Amino acid sequence: MAETLVETPRKLDDAVRRADEHAMRYRGDFPILDRKVHGRPLVYLDNSATSQKPRVVLDALNDYYTRLNANVHRGLHTLSEEATNAYEASRERVARFINAPPQNLVFVRNTTEGINLVASAWGRKNVRAGDEIALSVMEHHSNIVPWQMLARETGAVIRYFDIREDGSLDMDKAAELITEKTRMVSLAHMSNVLGTVNPIEAIVERAHEAGALVFVDAAQSVPHMPVDVQRLGCDFFAFSGHKMCGPTGIGGLYGREELLEAMDPYMGGGSMIDEVRLDGFTCADIPEKFEAGTPNIAHAIVFGVVVDYLAAIGMERIHAHERALTDYTVERLEEIEGLTVYGHAPGRGGAISFNLDNMHPSDLSTVLDRQGVAIRAGHHCAQPLMRRLGTSYGATARASVYFYNTSDEIDIMVDAIHKARNLFGP
Ligand SMILES: Cc1ncc(COP(=O)(O)O)c(C=O)c1O
Repeated sequence: MAETLVETPRKLDDAVRRADEHAMRYRGDFPILDRKVHGRPLVYLDNSATSQKPRVVLDALNDYYTRLNANVHRGLHTLSEEATNAYEASRERVARFINAPPQNLVFVRNTTEGINLVASAWGRKNVRAGDEIALSVMEHHSNIVPWQMLARETGAVIRYFDIREDGSLDMDKAAELITEKTRMVSLAHMSNVLGTVNPIEAIVERAHEAGALVFVDAAQSVPHMPVDVQRLGCDFFAFSGHKMCGPTGIGGLYGREELLEAMDPYMGGGSMIDEVRLDGFTCADIPEKFEAGTPNIAHAIVFGVVVDYLAAIGMERIHAHERALTDYTVERLEEIEGLTVYGHAPGRGGAISFNLDNMHPSDLSTVLDRQGVAIRAGHHCAQPLMRRLGTSYGATARASVYFYNTSDEIDIMVDAIHKARNLFGP
């Protein structure tokens, strides 16, 4: 367990003790958690930005390049066939993880690419001047800018859900914001700033009644809770492998079959065609239609290892761990004088933003780093939300937990914040 700096041992409730035991079962899987930063044990609390990688993932990457490396979907030799089989088997596993049919799961680089793909390939064909797109003020820039680009091109109008005092989505305006003019409602499943988990099923019901589609930005939900795209009933859904123990540069985009079938390709090139002639081309079937060029084969194959690893731990247990640790973190942070935590929606997840009076979050992050504690400071790619919250510096500090974090690590962070306060003065 991480070395504790807390002088008086705290009495932990059962849920937090269970979370600590749970974390200790898996910490050994992550070699990086043994390293020191500025001579201190690393306390990694920047999991919403990217998660750490377990040894099975590192080994699988090495194994791919050592044993299997070949291009997919084009060679007839043994290596190419084996690589293709592993690539498609991984698609099946990743699709199963979110309860999607494999042909409806497109490998993309990340959530950002998934949203851009749909805003472009679906949007250009289906959105006209005067149509509306509904987003919320809590969105990540990745779920704002692609739609703004589409609106600029088509003359569509973007409307925004507001948030309530506790950081939950203001559903009172749903009927005004989702109307027969709305073509798409695109919302984060979980906010990367407030931890708010949005009521996607209720949004889907309202949107479908109005004839609109729903895109779920699942960058912060898939790593932390069980998800089932069919139960959610959404039309599109995107997530990033690197936030869920996987490598960077690989993610998933789910789309309903008839929507993917009707969309034009996003990029043209090798692999996405059925036939090319001098006067035109026909497309491959889905999902290849959206996977032009040599894909990120190694990381796509490793993505299957990642979801098997998480499924073996159990997404319910990961979620329970993080709920307990999140409550503990918020409680401990709120003991600190002059500290504001943003986001108190019921059932909130483990991206916990906060600010200390009179201290820039970047200064706080720098002082914490000296104690070995990695948190994030900045606008978290959510500038409209920073403005909406009225944060003093257009920024917050953010601690974000994963299933390998313990309450000891939260205590170390809290001690380090006290030290920062003493250093900079109250
Ligand atoms: C809610 C949310 N959406 C989208 C993204 C973009 O993810 P990526 O950079 O992996 O595309 C992030 C990343 O932090 C996020 O938190």
